[in-house]
Parts: sequence; C-alpha cells; structure tokens
Amino acid sequence: MAHQAGLTLCRMLGHVPGATAVMRRMYQCHDPRLKVQFQGLTFSNPMGLAAGWDKQGTALKMLESMGFGFAEIGSISARPSLGNPKPRLFRLPSDNAIVVNYGLPNPGVESVAKRLRRFQQTQPLGVNVVKTNDGPAAPPCPDSAVIEDYLSTIKQVHDDCDYLMLNLSCPNTGHEQAFFARPGNLSNLLQQIDDLQVTTPVFLKIAPIEQADQIEQLLLQCRPHRCVAGFSVNLPTGKPSELNLHADPAALAKLPGAIAGQPVKELLNRCLRRLYQQMDRERYIIIGSGGVFTAEDAYEKICYGASLVQLYTALVYHGPLVVKQINEGLAQLLRRDGFDHVSQAVGSKA
Ligand SMILES: Cc1cc2nc3c(=O)[nH]c(=O)nc-3n(C[C@H](O)[C@H](O)[C@H](O)COP(=O)(O)O)c2cc1C
Repeated sequence: MAHQAGLTLCRMLGHVPGATAVMRRMYQCHDPRLKVQFQGLTFSNPMGLAAGWDKQGTALKMLESMGFGFAEIGSISARPSLGNPKPRLFRLPSDNAIVVNYGLPNPGVESVAKRLRRFQQTQPLGVNVVKTNDGPAAPPCPDSAVIEDYLSTIKQVHDDCDYLMLNLSCPNTGHEQAFFARPGNLSNLLQQIDDLQVTTPVFLKIAPIEQADQIEQLLLQCRPHRCVAGFSVNLPTGKPSELNLHADPAALAKLPGAIAGQPVKELLNRCLRRLYQQMDRERYIIIGSGGVFTAEDAYEKICYGASLVQLYTALVYHGPLVVKQINEGLAQLLRRDGFDHVSQAVGSKA
C-alpha cells in the first residue's frame, strides 16, 4: 500500500502546475564534478532510481525532479503478469532491508511503450526488460519462446529509452537464471539483438557471481556482441547466511523473497569489484546497486568500479531527500580526495 500510495502521489504531482519546479529547487544538486558522460548520454549526476519502483513509468515526470541523474523503469515483459500472490513485500527495519517477492507484476510492454512515446524526457531513461512471469503453474517455456519474449519487448521500447537493462536474474522467479545458465542461450539472445540493429546500449543485470571463471565465461559470451554496453548485479536469491540478518530467523522464514538494502551491500560490492577487474574497461561500464544509503556507500561503489549507482531501499526508509544528501556528500568526497570529476574516481580502489 505504501509503495502504491507513493507512486500515485508522484504521478498526480507530476500533473500539478509548478510542482516539478518546486521539487527541483528542493531536491536537485548542481555540481559539475558529478556529471557523467556515456555513449553520447549526459547524466547530471551518477545517482539513479533502480528498477522496481516505477514499474510502468507512470511517475517519470516527478522522478525527473527528485534529484536523480537518471531513472530505470520496469521490469516489464512482453505480456502482462500479475506477479506473486500478496503479501509480497515486507520491511525489515532492524536490517535496513526489504524482503521482496513481487514476481514481476507489470501490464506488459504495449501500454508502457505507448506511455514512453508520449513522454518528453529530460534525463536519461532506462527500461528494464524481463521474461513474462506466467506463474508457477504455467507449462515449461521452450528456449526459443523465452528469447522471443525478450525480443518482443525490446522491439517495442528500444527507440523510446536511452538504455535497456536485460534482467537475466530475477531472484524470485528463477526462470531467467536457470535459462541463462544453460550454454548458448545468452549468446543466442545477444546475437538476435545485434541482428535487430538496436543502437540503444544494452546492459545485463546478472546474478551475483564472484568466481573468476564464472565472470570470464560471461565476458566471453558478451565479447562478440556489439550491443552489450555494461553490467549490473542483481539481488541474491533467498536469504544467504552471509547477509548476517538481525531479524528473527523464525519470522524471516515466513517471509518469502529476496533481500534488498543494507545487508546485500558487501556481497554486491565484491561482485562489482571483481567484474570491474576482469572486464574490458574501454568498452563496458557498471551500474552498481545494493545497500546505498549514504554518500560513502555510493562513493565506495564508484571507487570499486561503478560509473553509475542506483538505489531503491534507501528511498523507502529515508524518502526522496536522500538523493540530494548523497549527491552533495559525493561532491564533498570527490573534493576531499582531489578528484575534479567523478569519472576519475571510478575504479580507483578496485
Ligand atoms: C520492492 C523491490 C522491487 C524490485 N523490483 C525489481 C524489478 O522489477 N526488476 C529488477 O531488475 N530489479 C528489481 N529490484 C531490485 C532493485 O532494482 C535493486 O537492484 C536492488 O533493490 C538493490 O538496491 P537497494 O539495496 O538500494 O534496494 C527490486 C527491488 C525492490 C526492493
């Protein structure tokens, strides 16, 4: 309910004359140090809204005034999906975390694409694309149909966004993870995107991997495909013990889903750093997320190799002012460490 109420409020405020101008004055931070350039796109700062908050792109007008440098909408899929049964979202205040088990509810690409075509964006916009979740009772989907599902969505939105994020690793449906773990499937999808001559940069949201050979395997599959511009690391599945959650284990066992927020920070930072160490840094960039609550958290990700950073859970616990606070703090940290520009800090501690 809180999620829906926040979204509705943002959508409505977007239509109130003058509201976005007031929000801009309250929430935006203007510091040239924070500007990021990538493939002809200009981000006024490196902080973005992560996928999953505005799944359908209904609140974009207001989001552009909330201090973010960019926003990612979705995940959206080729066909509508109801997602998992409710309740499917839980707060864990003792951990600064959220248990998320949405299961990719979305109205399908057609209605979202129509909305994007009408929207005049002033900031870079990403669309997160996933395979339709037909629910646990659906018959197994042939490999060719999974790929067709992604392609159908991509064809309808690639002209109306600045980057595509392929969600290859939803922790709650598991379909994509199993599919892309099978040899050849990722190469096949990427080849078909290349064949469509999509010029929009494509990012891959992968499951958390830290082994050198797993990362090498991923990079080998991406190498021949010109569409791939970079990576992002998704939440781990379930509640791995290394997250060291404080919440009562008996209570946790009753909350299905994956953990977002502070507990995933260390794990996702390790994955980000190792990926940065191994990837071709002339070609790819990383959009880092997971447990960003403060300027220090965002700076850490940048120093480990993220060129752009996203957040979600911090917005739930601290509200939209957190974006401005992080940006102002980031500019100070860059100044402290003698960087004239955020790009100089990327990977400085990798
Ligand atoms: C409620 C919720 C819904 C999410 N939905 C999606 C989604 O639809 N697609 C996706 O790729 N990631 C989704 N995510 C993951 C976020 O995009 C992000 O990667 C993750 O939450 C880590 O950032 P955080 O720790 O700042 O929340 C979701 C996260 C949350 C908390």
